[in-house]
Amino acid sequence: MAKDFKEDVLSRRTFAIISHPDAGKTTLTEKLLLFGGAIRDAGTVKGKKTGKFATSDWMEIEKQRGISVTSSVMQFEYQNRRVNILDTPGHQDFSEDTYRTLTAVDSAVMIIDSAKGIEEQTLKLFKVCRMRGIPIFTFINKLDREGRAPLELLAELEEVMGIESYPMNWPIGMGKEFLGIYDRFYNRIEQFRVDEENKYVALNDKGEIDGPHPLKDSGLYDQTLEEIMLLNEAGNEFSRERIETGELTPVFFGSALTNFGVQTFLETYLQFAPSPQARKSTEGKIDPLTEEFSGFIFKIQANMNPAHRDRIAFLRICSGKFERGMTVNIPRLGKQTKLAQSTQFMADDRSTVDEAVSGDIIGLYDSGTYQIGDTLTVGKNQFQYEKLPQFTPELFVRVTAKNVMKQKHFHKGIEQLVQEGAIQLFRNVRTEEYVLGAVGQLQFEVFEHRMKNEYNVEVIMERLGSKITRWVENDEVNESLSAARSILVNDRYGKKAFLFENDFALRWFQDKNPEIKLYNPMDDY
Ligand code: G4P
Repeated sequence: MAKDFKEDVLSRRTFAIISHPDAGKTTLTEKLLLFGGAIRDAGTVKGKKTGKFATSDWMEIEKQRGISVTSSVMQFEYQNRRVNILDTPGHQDFSEDTYRTLTAVDSAVMIIDSAKGIEEQTLKLFKVCRMRGIPIFTFINKLDREGRAPLELLAELEEVMGIESYPMNWPIGMGKEFLGIYDRFYNRIEQFRVDEENKYVALNDKGEIDGPHPLKDSGLYDQTLEEIMLLNEAGNEFSRERIETGELTPVFFGSALTNFGVQTFLETYLQFAPSPQARKSTEGKIDPLTEEFSGFIFKIQANMNPAHRDRIAFLRICSGKFERGMTVNIPRLGKQTKLAQSTQFMADDRSTVDEAVSGDIIGLYDSGTYQIGDTLTVGKNQFQYEKLPQFTPELFVRVTAKNVMKQKHFHKGIEQLVQEGAIQLFRNVRTEEYVLGAVGQLQFEVFEHRMKNEYNVEVIMERLGSKITRWVENDEVNESLSAARSILVNDRYGKKAFLFENDFALRWFQDKNPEIKLYNPMDDY
């Protein structure tokens, strides 16, 4: 094996940041990119107010510039590591793509707002990471503001998420009294708002400051030492193995806005975050160091600008090296294609990529060939990577074509968008109506837009609101059980599911029909 290739692969760190909107994902991403030299100015990623766009505002970007993917993947180098950050869009943009992005990473960074603790969207994304055994690194943000007690936040992690934590550092005060972090890992104190030369204070073997120091004059120093003692005695032990299996999350405290604790976080993170991992396929696990190229498509983004009808398929390279112009197999179709047009992503630019290796993400221009979950291989290889998980939709609409004369286009459009993985399709067993399901509202908007622009069909969507979807085991169910509060539908594979009005309707149904076994595919995670 070429030494360079091996080194290249082992230098990759591919991760996503998971958080609830406003926890500070954009701010942290921007600081990381600044360290990596990928951007020069603060405001490139964020800049809602500077007239530029936040990474997650892609719909706006689409509308205004006709470019779809500028910031979906950000890449930079730091300390001989090549870092790929994948965007997981915020709440208005929340979609199945957001979940699927997590199938393409090797680790995740979870940001928690110290005042708010664990929020809904973080929890949803966390569950997907958990089920996939992805290592999770936690950054507790906004320590420059008054927040909740750190011990309480850790207890919440363990209780709500069921994950054990190991604080790599610990805040000394917070808000107006925030003095810095006590770094258990580097055995030093990193002071907040203190000039660079005096920023770090070394600690002795006992983890204390030798001799006099202004920090010691504040009662917070003693309190911190007590808390550290408590963590040492009663807290979890550090374990690299348990971090790698996702059972233990290293926790960092900091303030992204003031760029405090971010560099320490990045450097420590890079030491423990895994390099590209082997992935399951129909022929067993494929090692990322295998020289033959392979990868899978985890996201397809259509260009919203009618002037550019192209779509971009995002490919996670799982083995070997991508070279522009190479010929690959698409085992699902039993055919070959040439990867001539490809792109790699930077924070403020996208450029043509000529070479990329396992762990990297590239964008392939697509005129309708690919589906989400497709595997690409080379040579005699015809294996396929593990199917992407199905995510349980929560929002529903009833959909029809505005113009009955356009039925043919309507069916074609729905069929293709559903196959592509843009939205989930169901049919009401009784009325035969089409029902679309999504995990986020944006999916409906994109669907409507694309039906009009790509298939020339205007659709009418009637909101059915949020529902709880449960599939029926063995499909054994009497159609007469379909009711307004428990609508029986077929999914696109003909499997039966109920759409329950709410939790109460679900429980009521289960009480009345204990013989019907219901399941949620996301519970397997
Ligand atoms: P998101 O991408 O996760 O949605 O969050 P984003 O980074 O946009 O941050 C949300 C808000 O929280 C922003 O304020 C941002 O400045 C603030 N913020 C992020 N990190 C910190 C931090 O460490 N400390 C404090 N005090 N605030 C932080 P905003 O007023 O909503 O936006 P803007 O006026 O700054 O653009």
